[in-house]
Amino acid sequence: MNVSFVQHFVLIEFKKVSHVENILNKATHMNEEQIIPVEGSMFWFRTEKTRSKISVSKDVPLLIKNGCSIPTDKELTDLLLSAETMSDQMVTLYETTKLNDIGVRIRFQTAHQLERCFSGLFPHISVLPFGSSVNGFGKLGCDLDLVLRATNVNEENLNSRLVYHTKTIMSDERLQTKKFMETIADTMQHFVPGICNVRRILHARVPIIKYEQSFTGVECDLSITNLTAVYMSELLRLYSEVDWRVKPLVFTLRKWAECVGLTNSAPGRWITNFSLTLLVLFYLQFKQILPSLSTLKKLAVKRDTRVANSMVDCTFLRDLNRLPERTTNVTTLQELLHGFYEFYSQFDFHTKAVSIRDGTTISKPDYSALYICNPLEPMLNVSKNVSIEEVEKLKVNLREASWLLESTDNNNLLTILQPKKDLMTLVRGKRVVNVAVLFGEDSEDEKTNVANKQKTLSGSLNKDRARRRRQVNFRRHPWNSKGGKSSPTVHK
Ligand code: UTP
Ligand code: MG
Repeated sequence: MNVSFVQHFVLIEFKKVSHVENILNKATHMNEEQIIPVEGSMFWFRTEKTRSKISVSKDVPLLIKNGCSIPTDKELTDLLLSAETMSDQMVTLYETTKLNDIGVRIRFQTAHQLERCFSGLFPHISVLPFGSSVNGFGKLGCDLDLVLRATNVNEENLNSRLVYHTKTIMSDERLQTKKFMETIADTMQHFVPGICNVRRILHARVPIIKYEQSFTGVECDLSITNLTAVYMSELLRLYSEVDWRVKPLVFTLRKWAECVGLTNSAPGRWITNFSLTLLVLFYLQFKQILPSLSTLKKLAVKRDTRVANSMVDCTFLRDLNRLPERTTNVTTLQELLHGFYEFYSQFDFHTKAVSIRDGTTISKPDYSALYICNPLEPMLNVSKNVSIEEVEKLKVNLREASWLLESTDNNNLLTILQPKKDLMTLVRGKRVVNVAVLFGEDSEDEKTNVANKQKTLSGSLNKDRARRRRQVNFRRHPWNSKGGKSSPTVHK
């Protein structure tokens, strides 16, 4: 191999906590002046020369090797081609790309590192993973969302005469949060081994610290006290486990959305994986495969009671064994996929909002282009960020996928997972935007081909009017840069 230095990381699990303590007591720092002597839970083995005094057994079997490797596009394509039916392909896609056990453990270890690091100041600190790493919809290599809680979990002991001296919280809670997070970010950046590329995004509605843990290879978003999001992950996990078809369907639709350029890892005016997942859950409620959140709330017992920040009631059934009846719907995954495209192709995004809580649509409370009620905080729209242009693009892509699935005897999932080569592609940084318009340097033939396709998809849409509208949308698009240049040019 042409690599002079290869790093191998091994995650070791011990049977007893005392064994871990034993190891921690044996670890040492290098006796050099250049190091900051932080004690964590990540270590390195010395090289052969200096290792002579350490006895290492050579035949410790590894449970999993290369547990974090992600299949290449080619490998995935080959696997999908070898599956018999489209439903099988959807299951294969899910099985080969889902976050595996080691991926989950590495993420918990990454969270644990921060807990250890700040436990001197806050002995009851907890750093909880949430989002796709734990909600059942995470894929290999997904980012890790973390919430740090430094609050005291113990009830006040009114009989105790010894009371800790503490500082008081600033009257401006937002400023306090900002200061706290700045300090946390500085500490992480300067003192915590393996943490790099720390970015502070502290003016957002939910302030976060983005960082990379280079030892575990995980990109992290750290927020504080954002407990509603943690309970939301519990809700999504619950839904993911109600029926075996939920995860393969969500994985397929997330993959499709990524392929056609509807989603992107960078935040922006496009639909997020989270919002898309809620659309899928809502569709499955419509198909009576999933219960509404109101039903889950009615079934909750005392131990399910949870109240998050700002008194948000996050109480709902946690134990699936107590769900009285499961669905009698036996629709195949392929049919559900097609059904999803048909359902949302005809959905009235203009006046209707999606409510997972009620399991029905409601009238849109405002003029947001896409309205998906936050299940736990119904007054909030989780897709408030989505622009009209992106909703239009969503609709076009839904119709196209529906059309592709029904036009031929199409039994191959790969047909809808192809990036669109016939539509003009604009690139800005990492984001690839497929825009269903006919501009730029495409040949006249290509323009006509795409126009015909658009016409079929748009049904009765008047071609000229649609074209004019798309022209307007295109000009307004913030990533409209002629010839696919990476710098954004907004045409006014
Ligand atoms: P993310 O946007 O990171 O989504 O939000 P995700 O589910 O982890 O998906 P990917 O893989 O990163 O794209 C993380 C979590 O934050 C909560 C949800 O629990 C979500 O899973 N969240 C997000 C909310 O509660 N409300 C929101 O408006 C957005
Ligand atoms: Mg995430």
